[in-house]
Amino acid sequence: MSKLPVVVLISGGGTNLQAIIDAAKEDLPVEIRAVISNKVDAYGLERARRADIPVAILEHRQFPDRDGFDTALARLIDSYQPQLVLLAGFMRILTPGFVHHYHGRMLNIHPSLLPDFQGLHTHQRALEAEAQKHGASVHFVTEELDGGPVIVQASVPVLPDDDAETLAARVLQKEHVIYPLAVRWFAQGRLSLNGRDQVVLDGKTLNSPVQLERTPA
Ligand code: GAR
Repeated sequence: MSKLPVVVLISGGGTNLQAIIDAAKEDLPVEIRAVISNKVDAYGLERARRADIPVAILEHRQFPDRDGFDTALARLIDSYQPQLVLLAGFMRILTPGFVHHYHGRMLNIHPSLLPDFQGLHTHQRALEAEAQKHGASVHFVTEELDGGPVIVQASVPVLPDDDAETLAARVLQKEHVIYPLAVRWFAQGRLSLNGRDQVVLDGKTLNSPVQLERTPA
């Protein structure tokens, strides 16, 4: 099968990037054309270099406003001609124009069971809300921050002695499973967004996200 060209955007440690790199070394049919970071010291850049993936840094601080940064970012991404853009811990709010440009071909991973806990500090907020269950979601990116149609989720129990760190670690393990899975579906041509911004998987419109515990192969 021919490999789907992708570009991955990061801001930090890049463990989700690593999960994609590792899966691509096995049988995930993607070619990571570049890893782009808005932070010079993002450890994920090191992970990319080690895997011989081209890296690029575009610091948002060098731009006077959000539009300027997003325009330059889109130009940089498009120079690699990806068919899919993956946000993997890319901690930037994106402009509507940028999001529109990648409509139906940009995914994000978010550390909560969306629509619960959009935004930051999701693990701490799940603990404060005394949630029994927490987890992660992969979704198509639309203009609403963390609000795009969810493709797949995985949940974990919240344990009595959890703090934000232990809970985050448990969720992260699930992230590393569901992100490569959603990317695989997309690369296999099984996953898309329809004209009404609904997720279509294997020819069927999803009424609710796939739960990892009940995934198709
Ligand atoms: C992950 O937990 C990801 O879900 C989260 O940032 C972390 C990045 O970790 N993303 C967001 O919060 C986006 N709203 P990583 O750099 O090790 O992949």
